[in-house]
Amino acid sequence: MSELRVISLEEVSKHNYEGVDKSCWIVISGKVYDVTKFLNEHPGGEEVITQLAGKDATVGFLDVGHSKDAIEMTKEYLIGQLPESEVSKSEKTAPKVAQSKGSQSSVLKDFTDIMTSPTWTNFLIPTTMGLIIYTAYKFIFN
Ligand code: HEM
Repeated sequence: MSELRVISLEEVSKHNYEGVDKSCWIVISGKVYDVTKFLNEHPGGEEVITQLAGKDATVGFLDVGHSKDAIEMTKEYLIGQLPESEVSKSEKTAPKVAQSKGSQSSVLKDFTDIMTSPTWTNFLIPTTMGLIIYTAYKFIFN
């Protein structure tokens, strides 16, 4: 594979889906992608990506939990990489986008984690409820 072109964040930021050509470049894990032509094909919709046009989209991209196929697809749009010195900076300042779908599934994950983890509070709550119902029952029917 040939060497990737080094593209600065400053240059990426010019392709922010505004301007004449409405180009849309994003950064994912230090790599620069031109997704202009992919926008209307994106299964997650255009807007989630255009919101991040010209910026680092690593956090958003990873947050969604894209499939292996999706990760594979990114290769098609790869046009370069950030200079080494800008990679961590870019990821640190990456805006965290609240994805309706993404956050929903992470809430669901947290919920599932809590409901399936055998911590003592998860036993305590139903046990206490059972005791209260039992006491109330005894009290009423005695
Ligand atoms: C080159 C970049 C990207 C590619 C090739 C890509 C590809 C895909 C594909 C194939 C899917 C269908 C589900 C899957 O296979 O995982 C998907 C869904 C989605 N993507 Fe992307 N995506 C890219 C960038 C992004 C970015 C930057 C964001 C937001 C920050 C995003 C947000 C979403 C969302 C919200 C969904 C819907 C998830 C769902 O329905 O559960 N994607 N993307």
